Amino acid sequence: MAHIINEVSRTFNEFLLLPGRTRKDCSVQSVEVSTPLARHRLGEPSPLILGTPVTSAIMQSVSSHDLAIALARAGGLSFLYHNQPIEDQAAAVRRVKTFKSGFVTSDTNVRPTDALRDLVELMERTGHSTAAVTEDGTATGTLLGMVSKRDFHPQRHDLDAPVSSRMRPIDSVPSAKGDITLTEANDRLFDEHLDVLPVLDHEGHLHRLIFRSDYEDNKRFPHQLVDASKRLRVGAGVNTHDYKDRIPALVDADVDVLCFDSSDGYSDYQADALAWAKQHYPHTPIGGGNVVDAEGFDFLAQAGADFVKVGVGGGSICITRDQKGIGRGQASAVLDTVAARDRYAQQTGIYVPICSDGGLVHDYHITLALAMGADFVMMGRYFARFDQAPGAKIPTKEGFVKEYWGEGSARARNWQRYGQATKMLFEEGVDGYVPYAGDLHEGLASTLAKIKATMVSCGASNIPAFQTGARLTLVSEQSFQESHANVTIRETTGTTH
Ligand code: IMP
Repeated sequence: MAHIINEVSRTFNEFLLLPGRTRKDCSVQSVEVSTPLARHRLGEPSPLILGTPVTSAIMQSVSSHDLAIALARAGGLSFLYHNQPIEDQAAAVRRVKTFKSGFVTSDTNVRPTDALRDLVELMERTGHSTAAVTEDGTATGTLLGMVSKRDFHPQRHDLDAPVSSRMRPIDSVPSAKGDITLTEANDRLFDEHLDVLPVLDHEGHLHRLIFRSDYEDNKRFPHQLVDASKRLRVGAGVNTHDYKDRIPALVDADVDVLCFDSSDGYSDYQADALAWAKQHYPHTPIGGGNVVDAEGFDFLAQAGADFVKVGVGGGSICITRDQKGIGRGQASAVLDTVAARDRYAQQTGIYVPICSDGGLVHDYHITLALAMGADFVMMGRYFARFDQAPGAKIPTKEGFVKEYWGEGSARARNWQRYGQATKMLFEEGVDGYVPYAGDLHEGLASTLAKIKATMVSCGASNIPAFQTGARLTLVSEQSFQESHANVTIRETTGTTH
């Protein structure tokens, strides 16, 4: 006879937090929301720590390089989708890693003999308006000059003329030596009225560029998630089919972290693929998933996963529960796996973080997931609503909407995620729209403000304290009605003064 689990499968909607003692030394300004992303020994720091406990879903309609840049600037992390050719995904990783932030590797480079027309095309491709002119046209060639959009105009200058005719030659370009610090470089940018400062090695090869515009930008985003070279961090999804080709290409592009993306992570295929990844790329953290219970967590933790992603059937675009009858309420899934994580940490001394993936409908669901012990969350619908997400923005009678489609929908046809042979035999996701929500930074700032305010109310000044100290209560149908009494809402701007 089948084994029936007696506990009811519960969702976040069925819980509320009880306020704890609000302390004077715990304020919204002082609350810390950094959190570990990758496995680590108890008592030692994780090799990868998120500044903001949110990641974006491994989906075509969510995690593009633009969204990845915006989210990393806000302290979170995107996992670029794998449902695309390997070289395209690696190129997206490179675009995030070369995004200008502090010292950057020049990604817009030409030879002096190239035509201005080629330079215009290159600038359009990279989106940057300053190029380095190097002997061999590479990012590390001997620097011969600099050229920017201000040095020529397509209508005034012959686009067939060589770049050398409009570039500022090296003897008139101020530059710095390789050992300059960012602070010294920023001082020079301002003291000498410069837009850009190239950093050269002792033989005159280009090493890095430092832009004045980045200085202002970096002040706007003080909590950016960056690597040791100050480049934004980015993750990438991989699958258990082409991982032996995909992972090397992504690591070569300097990806920071990987994650196996599957609707069923409790599988021999994933264990084999994790073992291969850990053997060949031991220094690149890699997560596994998705699972919904302690058994699944233990399986992936033992297989070497650096974090475990939890959630089946709860995603907003998901129809897996209708199609296959598989899944578990997200709150039950998180509570069960969190207990397994803590047991595993006690037994082995190794902490394997948990990511709660999908089904977060309200901002407070993120807070509940953290309170229940998740280390960070992954969201699709939430991010698909913002300007930086790839879906088209479409006007409707009720206002703007953005496209959002599931990886198991006919549009994405991500058969690798759903283990349906080599093509989709039936759909597991829908293709639709979500209300447009503007700029990611504004939206996420408001969400974080709510999370921090709740943590203050519960008396927790950081996520570990919240996880151990939070008190939750189940909510009855009657309590729901109490909190949704029938009042006609007057439209306001949404802000209070
Ligand atoms: P959301 O945040 O509720 O929109 O859920 C996003 C999560 O749903 C993703 O991170 C995936 O785990 C999952 N997902 C993505 N596409 C599909 C699909 O087509 N069917 C089922 N689940 C999906």
